[in-house]
Amino acid sequence: MRIIAVKDAGQMGLEAARLMAGVVREKPEAVLGLATGSTPLGTYAELARLCAREGLDFSKITSFNLDEYIGLDRDHPQSYFAYMKEHFVDLVNIAPENVFLPDGVAEDLEAECHEYDRLLESYGFADLQLLGIGTNGHIAFNEPDDHFVAATHKVALTAETIQANQRFFDRLEDVPTHAITLGMRGIMSARQLVLIASGSGKARAIADACFGPVTPKVPASIIQLHANAVVIADREALALTELAGQV
Ligand code: PGA
Repeated sequence: MRIIAVKDAGQMGLEAARLMAGVVREKPEAVLGLATGSTPLGTYAELARLCAREGLDFSKITSFNLDEYIGLDRDHPQSYFAYMKEHFVDLVNIAPENVFLPDGVAEDLEAECHEYDRLLESYGFADLQLLGIGTNGHIAFNEPDDHFVAATHKVALTAETIQANQRFFDRLEDVPTHAITLGMRGIMSARQLVLIASGSGKARAIADACFGPVTPKVPASIIQLHANAVVIADREALALTELAGQV
């Protein structure tokens, strides 16, 4: 695992966008694994800028997102589908039909999970998977547990995650309690992993994920087993590691 230490969230966003743009230039029909949340916003803004100003071409790119809330349809403003539309799909020249997220209101959620895995595998998995990290060490919505789950699955969000997501909703009761998340097989089958983190709230999770034992109690620690994983973290997120003070 390689760690790129950067000064702040702005640098983190640019660095992640640089890696992603490199994949898009090298392989115009690449599959990008995409993430939601606050952390990737700067990355998407930079990719949009590169598309508009420097002709970075997403026309043949396919994207697969990591997760979606159960119970929110695509038109709900807090659905991850709506997030991707607002921050990425409407800002670059990706074909909307090449943008995939799990359907959080599918009638048969089990079948939806199975189909999402099948579809991702049929595309040969992601060339690059962008990942955020939860304060509790989750990646996608793979929450701390006593085992890793390989397949895409339905998950009950932890109280910590629900609390963290409350900032996007009017009331705590409105925050979805369940989600569909890509499992570890889909994530770990990507050719490259790029995990981004900024701010002191992620410091414990980053220290444990990068330097602690590989354990489902810290789901992000699994990326230590990947042959091509890059962590881009800012000074605050690295505060509890030996890299603190180097940026
Ligand atoms: P955040 O979420 O980017 O909003 O901090 C990250 C995550 O929970 O994976």
